[in-house]
Amino acid sequence: MNILILGGGGREHALAWAFAQNPKCDRLWCAPGNAGIAEVADCVALDILDGAKVLDFARENGVEFVMIGPEAPLAEGVADTLRAGGLLVFGPGREAARLEASKAFTKEIAAACGAPTAASQTFTDETAARAYVGVQGAPIVVKADGLAAGKGVTVATTEAEAQAALDAIFAEGPGARVVIEEFMTGEEASLFVLAHGTDLLVVGSAQDHKRAFDGDEGPNTGGMGAYSPAPAMTPEVTERALAEIVRPTLAEMARRGTPFQGVLFAGLMIEDGRPRLVEYNVRFGDPEIQAIAMRLGAQLLDAILACAEGRLAAARVNWAEDHAMTVVIAARGYPGDYARGEAIGLPALDDPRARLFHAGTRIEGGELVSNGGRVLDATARGATLAEARDLAYAVAAAVDWPGGFYRRDIGWRALPDDPAA
Ligand code: AMP
Ligand code: GLY
Repeated sequence: MNILILGGGGREHALAWAFAQNPKCDRLWCAPGNAGIAEVADCVALDILDGAKVLDFARENGVEFVMIGPEAPLAEGVADTLRAGGLLVFGPGREAARLEASKAFTKEIAAACGAPTAASQTFTDETAARAYVGVQGAPIVVKADGLAAGKGVTVATTEAEAQAALDAIFAEGPGARVVIEEFMTGEEASLFVLAHGTDLLVVGSAQDHKRAFDGDEGPNTGGMGAYSPAPAMTPEVTERALAEIVRPTLAEMARRGTPFQGVLFAGLMIEDGRPRLVEYNVRFGDPEIQAIAMRLGAQLLDAILACAEGRLAAARVNWAEDHAMTVVIAARGYPGDYARGEAIGLPALDDPRARLFHAGTRIEGGELVSNGGRVLDATARGATLAEARDLAYAVAAAVDWPGGFYRRDIGWRALPDDPAA
């Protein structure tokens, strides 16, 4: 099968690496890709938000399957355009992608299907939003509706902070919409479920680390490291999350005539064994999938194809009793301003349990250089989480890039008595 992956970050490198190992994969392209992806796929410059251009490329090159990595093309309806053109595609159409693209829509669906989530109200009127914050008090959570690359959420510990978040959202001008919701306590974990209509297959759980610095300090980022599985996602919690949140959501989407197809990434808050929905994403988490791909390897493509082809009911994944961790190496300054184009020296990796996925790299004058905020993902698996952690950190430490930084405490919740190297 000839496959095209859309995207060019660590998520897409992990997917390309897993796909390339599967004998079903003949030719593999990635648009736009990066320097690491170029080692396993042909990278092509394509505007991945332009479905017609992607369809043209696919037709000219005999692409049979398109895997859409990031949320932006999904929210643009690129999956719809490609499906209408007769291609096999992984990823929801524009309507179903609203589960990520609009927080207000997710709240509407959760209410319609009875999925437990934070109590909330949606506002377009600034005065009403401010009055609601005044009545509810802090702590409270303020979310800009719409895709915000992880930056649209303020967990306000004071009412002043919540009002300041509203200042920023309503400064966007007319059309601004805000979801204001109850602050939930508990432990966060992510559940990744492949879904086609109402058929589903769980492909793993993970825990991310969103803050930039050790001890969960500093600004929010796209994610600084993750491990899989998440201890909080016990079989009981997983069953409950499927029964009370994921299945009702899929049924409601199907009932509305906009069935979901792709990966439903449920961000959950778990307290006393009870999961509640924080948010949905409609694509794999980055860097969560780097850890999950390390555990699943080539069978990830089998599961993804079973989803795209509507064969999920009979699909299975074979789990090893193992653990994986990924540590993101980012450019100093990220998530604020940072330099690009800095030379990076990579270590030779002789242990098959370890990989360095590229998140933001390119080749310049024959040399590997940084080309983004998140740049590399040191990823490893092991029989225990501590083993995976030690190997991932050994790989990160061997990278020669003075301009990079990484958190030293990825996995601290799951390894509380065992501080990171
Ligand atoms: P989101 O972009 O919706 O995932 O929000 C980013 C982060 O904000 C989440 O990962 C949570 O840590 C936090 N968060 C979002 N909503 C809530 C909530 N209702 N209660 C507590 N924390 C929240
Ligand atoms: N790592 C969080 C996300 O992909 O949204």
